Amino acid sequence: MYVTLDYIREGDLVIDATCGNGNDTLLLSAAVGESGDVLAVDIQEEAVEKTKKRLQDAGAGNVKTIQGSFCFMDQFLSAWFPDRSPAAVVFNLGYLPGGNKAITTRTDETVSAVAKAAELVRKDGIVTVVMYSGHPEGEREKAEVLAMAKKLPKDRFHVVFASMLNQDGCPPEILWITRKK
Ligand SMILES: C[S@@+](CC[C@H](N)C(=O)[O-])C[C@H]1O[C@@H](n2cnc3c(N)ncnc32)[C@H](O)[C@@H]1O
Repeated sequence: MYVTLDYIREGDLVIDATCGNGNDTLLLSAAVGESGDVLAVDIQEEAVEKTKKRLQDAGAGNVKTIQGSFCFMDQFLSAWFPDRSPAAVVFNLGYLPGGNKAITTRTDETVSAVAKAAELVRKDGIVTVVMYSGHPEGEREKAEVLAMAKKLPKDRFHVVFASMLNQDGCPPEILWITRKK
């Protein structure tokens, strides 16, 4: 998240594509400040409700929460923030911690949504994707997201992949796609 925060300024619009328990949403809300906006999306009502509660407890009033799929983020954006380009779109893949593990991000939808996010972010904006390959869908998802990202045109995007080499098991891995100025 700290790399992502470097790309965000007060007053920006950012998208949390998988708000889950609201941890990332809260960080993003603080980063854009009162003059900024966060669009927080999750497919599950439970996640959206948990996020709303976190935000309410923290007194964060700059977040619009939406229950829906990140596949439609362009439509959510034009409905709520027409004519604004996000500084960042954040994906934290997999299932809701403490929730139903059967409801997880799906490879085909994720690949298409990450590609869409790369086109939606403003110039000098960032798409961050945290991936977990310790479950079968996560392994396939990682492979196909990376395959898509490798093909992004090098004159328009920088693509960086980070893996924690000295950790046991399948620690989270991070993909950053930044849009060149
Ligand atoms: C690892 S959790 C996110 C954790 C969250 N970033 C946090 O800070 O608590 C992954 C989330 O993705 C959501 N999800 C799965 N498929 C989705 C989709 N197509 N669109 C949006 N959210 C989705 C799940 O419901 C789950 O809450």
